[in-house]
Amino acid sequence: MRILAFESTCDETAAAIVEDGRRVLTDQIFSQAELHAVYGGVVPEIASRCHVESISLLAERAVQAAGMEKRDLDAIAVSYAPGLIGAVLVGVNFAKSCALALNKPLIPVHHIRGHIAANYLAYPELEPPFLCLAISGGNTLLVDVRGYTDMKILGATRDDAAGECFDKTARVLGLPYPGGRPIDLLAQGGDDSRYVFPISHVDGNPYDMSFSGLKTAVINLVHNTQQKGEELDRASLAASFTKAVSDSLVPRTIQAARELGRDKIAVAGGVAANSRIRADFQRAAEENGLKLYIPPLKLCGDNGAMIGAQAYYEYLAGVRAGSDLNAYATMDI
Ligand code: KG4
Repeated sequence: MRILAFESTCDETAAAIVEDGRRVLTDQIFSQAELHAVYGGVVPEIASRCHVESISLLAERAVQAAGMEKRDLDAIAVSYAPGLIGAVLVGVNFAKSCALALNKPLIPVHHIRGHIAANYLAYPELEPPFLCLAISGGNTLLVDVRGYTDMKILGATRDDAAGECFDKTARVLGLPYPGGRPIDLLAQGGDDSRYVFPISHVDGNPYDMSFSGLKTAVINLVHNTQQKGEELDRASLAASFTKAVSDSLVPRTIQAARELGRDKIAVAGGVAANSRIRADFQRAAEENGLKLYIPPLKLCGDNGAMIGAQAYYEYLAGVRAGSDLNAYATMDI
């Protein structure tokens, strides 16, 4: 079954064709990151307008690149929540038009379910149940993936997402947006024990997380150092900050896997591209006898293929959208 899938929840417009949820025939992506970089973050209206400009071209390119005719498609899928509402609306409306024009079923896909499904593309053998830490620019969730379409949130950030924290730290260091990769590169030459940052524990649920205290600690450190006229060891700050994020994420995920008796853990989302977090997960998984799944870098960030992958399993579970499908800024997984 070949599904044409759209993604437009933030600042990437994407159209992909995925076969049977596991084989990517094409994955066309246009990243708007450069357009937003001058503002230091995503400007919602610019994002929406840019999606409008590029989505039909990407759809045409996808069909061409897969060597297919439009009539050969079996279904249309779209990421319909959560995200910047104006941006999500563009994808939803375009996908609805495609489904109507081609007379194909329309499959709505939760964006974070899509991130999790990126692992199905990278690892053909991976099947639920497993535990997944989804870490992106807007979300940080620890999810028990009981089945392809049966998921339970075990914990979530109470404030900022992990990616947001990387972006804010980069901003205060004068690094470009999005800040995750520049921080990752800067951290390579740093000493992660030079600065000590807080690792938050929140009341009520051991799997809930918090990153706003860490963000404030970084901002305060940078300002205090500047005010005293001292030199900031930027590489060590990046390394110490990344260690603090990783120490918030990795032990929690391992603990949850042990408590739930899961022997497989997956990581997903843009922040899963971080080299320190990947290495820490690798080590922790080995030490605890857990099988680890992390997508290759190109499948960590937003893309259409992950939406096409999850859409296949939603389709098998009977999920369909009608012509009244709407977009949602927030939605439970
Ligand atoms: O999943 P994604 O592409 O978009 C959302 O769905 O939000 O994630 C984007 C986030 C940004 O905050 C970006 O700074 C972060 O992923 N990111 C990274 C790295 N590459 C991207 N964070 C840490 N290390 C990286 N190498």
